[in-house]
Formats: sequence, C-alpha cells, structure tokens
Amino acid sequence: MDGNGRWAEERSRPRLFGHKAGVDSVREIVEISRTIGVEFLTLYAFSTENWNRPSGEVTGLMGLLKRYLQSELKTMLKNGIRLCCVGQQDRLPADVQSVLQQTISDTEACQGMTLNLALSYGGRSELVQAVRRLAQQCQDGALQWQEISEDSISEHLFTAGQPDPDLLIRTGGEHRLSNFLLWQTSYAELYFTDVKWPDFRKDQLLEAINTYNRRQRRFGKISAQLQGE
Ligand code: IPE
Ligand code: MG
Repeated sequence: MDGNGRWAEERSRPRLFGHKAGVDSVREIVEISRTIGVEFLTLYAFSTENWNRPSGEVTGLMGLLKRYLQSELKTMLKNGIRLCCVGQQDRLPADVQSVLQQTISDTEACQGMTLNLALSYGGRSELVQAVRRLAQQCQDGALQWQEISEDSISEHLFTAGQPDPDLLIRTGGEHRLSNFLLWQTSYAELYFTDVKWPDFRKDQLLEAINTYNRRQRRFGKISAQLQGE
C-alpha cells in the first residue's frame, strides 16, 4: 500500500492526512475483496524498515492502526473476516498489541475471508526466524536436517497454513518488493500501478484482477502442456 505520503504532499497536506485517506482505501478493498470471493488478502501496512521513519509519523500510523481495529471489529464479525497478523507483533506498542490480540481472537472463527495485516513485517527476518526454529529442532533431536523441506520452511513462516499468494499488487509507482513475502511470492503474478494507495479503490482492484486473469501461469512448463489442465 504505497503512495500515501506523496498523495498528501500533492494536496499540500501532512503525510498523516494521506495515511488517513489510505485507511478508507483499506476499508473499501477489504469489503470488495470479500464480496468477489478472495479468500486471503494480505495488506503490507508497516515494514520492519518503517520503524526508521520520523517518530511522529510512526506514532500517527500506530494510532490509525489501533483506531482502525477498534472501528472495524463489528464489520469484520458481520462479514466473516478473520484477522491475522504477519510480522513482529511484539515490537508494536503495548496498547496496539492488546487491541490486535483481542481482534484476532474475536474473529478467529470467521470464515468469509482471512485478512492478514503485515505489521512490523520483513521477509528476510521472517526467514531468519524460521531457520532458527528449524535449527533449534535439529539441535534438540526433534528433526533431522535431511527432513528440512520447502514445506517445513513454509510451516515456520507467519503465513503457516495459508496458500501462497497468486497476485501481488504494488501501488504508488515503485517497482520493487521491499522485503514483502519473499518466500511466499516466488510464483505470484506481479502487478505494479502508478495509482497511489488512497486512490486505489474498487475499479483499480478489478482492473488488477482482470489483468491477472489474462496472464498465463505456466509454473515453468510450456503452453502446450497446460491444455486441458
Ligand atoms: C504508505 O505509503 C506506506 C506505509 C508505510 C503506511 P508511504 O507512506 O510510503 O507513501 P509515500 O511512498 O511516501 O508516498
Ligand atoms: Mg512509500
């Protein structure tokens, strides 16, 4: 979800104004995604690198996050949205952690769509944590090193038990992954748009999905092999 700051600057407003507008996009995109049958949606809200932003912006983002969670609980329950967090939850301010934990447990049984919020998330640090856990299991004798597999690595990531993403959308005109779901996106279709996040709404999402639907996913095979699959 990139481009909030520039969106605000274009309007000669403070960056937080852009982040607030970005929350409206989040509401709309979550709602439309569920309506059209998306089963898993992951929003990259705050990266491990974002901690290096000016403290006022970080505090503002944390406040927005807390208010978003508090205001959305009713809607999440009504629409069957299960909230999960991918990222270093323990680095978040205590009050945000507690609202987050409460929302996660309140929506645990929801079956309409899983909404992953990537908070203090970094793909490399996620992989380091997974490797450390597997190494610990080997040291404890619970696992043989030969048993380490793609599946066992996947099962030690924040997204354990979830399918890999089919489509990755980056708004705001940059063409990079910025440490997002590095392992999980190995075969994701990438979609980049110049539209800044506060302007990314229903029509823009549907356009991204239409583009995705026109792509051929070969997973290393050749076109002829895909006939009849
Ligand atoms: C939102 O966009 C991403 C968040 C960390 C919330 P930015 O804040 O990166 O906006 P730009 O890139 O400065 O426009
Ligand atoms: Mg940015």
